[in-house]
Amino acid sequence: MAQTLFPMEDQMGELKSAQLITGRFDEEVETRRHRTKTAPDEDLRDVKQFSSDKILKHLDRVNDWIQGGNPPPITVELDMTNVCNHHCPECVVNYFRLSDENSLPRTLAERIIDELGEAGVRALIFTGGGEPLCHPDTPDMVTRARARGMDVGFITNGQLLKPESAEKILRNCIWVRVSLDAATPEVFQKTHGKNGASFNKVVENIVMLVKTKKELGSSCTVGVGYLTSKDTQGDLRKAALLCKGLGVDYIQYRPMQIHNGGQFEYDWEDVAAEVEGCLDLGGNGFNVLYSKHKYDMMKRCDYGRDYGECYGHQFATVVSATGKMYICCHLRGYEKYRLGNLKEKSFVEIWNSEERKAAYNSIDFNDCIPLCRCNTFNQVLWNVTRPKEHVNFL
Ligand SMILES: C[S@@+](CC[C@H](N)C(=O)[O-])C[C@H]1O[C@@H](n2cnc3c(N)ncnc32)[C@H](O)[C@@H]1O
Ligand code: SF4
Ligand code: SF4
Repeated sequence: MAQTLFPMEDQMGELKSAQLITGRFDEEVETRRHRTKTAPDEDLRDVKQFSSDKILKHLDRVNDWIQGGNPPPITVELDMTNVCNHHCPECVVNYFRLSDENSLPRTLAERIIDELGEAGVRALIFTGGGEPLCHPDTPDMVTRARARGMDVGFITNGQLLKPESAEKILRNCIWVRVSLDAATPEVFQKTHGKNGASFNKVVENIVMLVKTKKELGSSCTVGVGYLTSKDTQGDLRKAALLCKGLGVDYIQYRPMQIHNGGQFEYDWEDVAAEVEGCLDLGGNGFNVLYSKHKYDMMKRCDYGRDYGECYGHQFATVVSATGKMYICCHLRGYEKYRLGNLKEKSFVEIWNSEERKAAYNSIDFNDCIPLCRCNTFNQVLWNVTRPKEHVNFL
């Protein structure tokens, strides 16, 4: 069924003549799923957030877009606030957050969530901006988003979790991930700029989350995020052991981006082998996950940006704590890439607007970080929309 909000011929250009994705892909994905079925818990709890072929689970929207439509995004990141109680020196949002303590007023957050649900957004991620739990209304907004039919994910530094907020999160979210990035107070101080008491509080709160999850019989996946860099290398394996002991469902390793004179770069420490060395710790309901594609792509000089245009912004977007929408989570706060302001317009008006078109038509990869959120599905979308030879020979 078409999901078009408005036709946008000008974005498509070359794509009009390109190959449409057919139902055959659907069968292919299904068949592959059955053939590669592994442990039941792994199959059911797909916490590999950035797996590129997930976009092919949304063939209705991809096809609509290929045909010139303007389907609503599949996933939206929502920043309730830019305020944060931690001081991670390499925080991705440091470039604008330091001078920006905006938060969404409750009534605006309610309207935005309602509009996103009505428009057909399939998943909402509470993240930041800052720390979502620095905003007192966030737990209620999680409940509201679920009630409006969206799948909900939650990313937090974990420090401000309380039994009441944990319960709302566990009752309404598909997953929650605590960014720990350490297994000892020393490393936590380096990664989060906070002392041992804060580290202990976060660990205590993870224990509380796991316990509450069991008490509620919640199916929410509880995970821990771990950014790898030379600062965190020493704790890498200890962190997996710690998390296994805490009873979470997974630890996920991802490379930390570092600010390098205003340019985003990656820490070149090659930890892929060490990360792979932790895989043996998985089992009995505990998964050791890592963004393999990122570690692989980091070794390429183009970081895997082997596509000519960004198309991912059509399917994943962001609402910032100022009420402004931006092309993608990495370009938050960058006025050139503003799609519109939800304080002034509705979501549908912004999604259909000339301002949004102008923003995506001006995307310059020099402004984009390497290995951005859409990198993998940009590769998929670029390939499926290019003419290809011998397409019927599978
Ligand atoms: C900006 S934080 C906001 C949510 C919350 N305050 C937290 O830290 O989980 C959102 C995500 O960005 C990630 N992040 C922050 N700085 C990063 C960096 N330099 N490189 C890669 N990811 C980063 C965090 O690990 C977290 O998963
Ligand atoms: S806790 Fe999250 S938002 Fe706060 S400084 Fe760290 S990464 Fe940034
Ligand atoms: S960083 Fe650039 S390429 Fe990546 S999603 Fe944003 S606009 Fe697209």
